[in-house]
Amino acid sequence: MMRIAVDGPSGAGKSTVARRIADRLGIDYIDTGAMYRAVGYKLLKEGVSLENTEAVQELLDRTEIDFSNGKIFLDGEDVSGLIRTQEIAGQASACSAIGIVRTKLVDLQRKMGREKSVIMDGRDIGTNVFPDAEYKFFITASAEERARRRCEELKAGGQEAEPEQILAAIRKRDHDDSTRAINPLRKADDAVEIDTTHMSIDEVTDYICREMNR
Ligand code: DC
Repeated sequence: MMRIAVDGPSGAGKSTVARRIADRLGIDYIDTGAMYRAVGYKLLKEGVSLENTEAVQELLDRTEIDFSNGKIFLDGEDVSGLIRTQEIAGQASACSAIGIVRTKLVDLQRKMGREKSVIMDGRDIGTNVFPDAEYKFFITASAEERARRRCEELKAGGQEAEPEQILAAIRKRDHDDSTRAINPLRKADDAVEIDTTHMSIDEVTDYICREMNR
């Protein structure tokens, strides 16, 4: 059994790299950001106010999240595509600051890591979910480079991309994610930090695999 924690700000390439490593090692990849997005999506769909703690708890109590074949299922429905919008990203960031949301998802993440070997990416995996993970990585890149990558991604998907606006959204999310009171984005003291500003996906993947074989 092995737990690999991959943390870092949005758009640093965590999920692409984590998915590749999971394939190489034949272990499960768990995208914890997708879990916050799924909860954010459901809260929005049902029109539940984030301030209404009771209603949020009631919604959480009847929420099931599963991963299967690289897809995320919310109450049995594949929401993998639906949660990849700017609106849901903002909603995920907002609901990830709520204590009862984190408690539910962190419990679920720990359960997933108890049952099998996993590589998990997020913001607090090395600091909070698995402080005793066998391997910890903290992946960063400059905000400008992350915005550039995001623009490319949107254009490749045939969507409009407004560079200035994307950079501003990334900066806002960095700020919100690192300054929230509960389990903010922070590098674990024993995590290996990788600045990917000038690295390709292949280079980052190889680097991590080499580190794990040391
Ligand atoms: O990685 P992502 O953009 O899909 O994550 C969406 C939001 O969820 C992000 O703004 C911060 C939050 N998040 C978190 O608080 N803790 C995690 N382990 C993963 C994501």
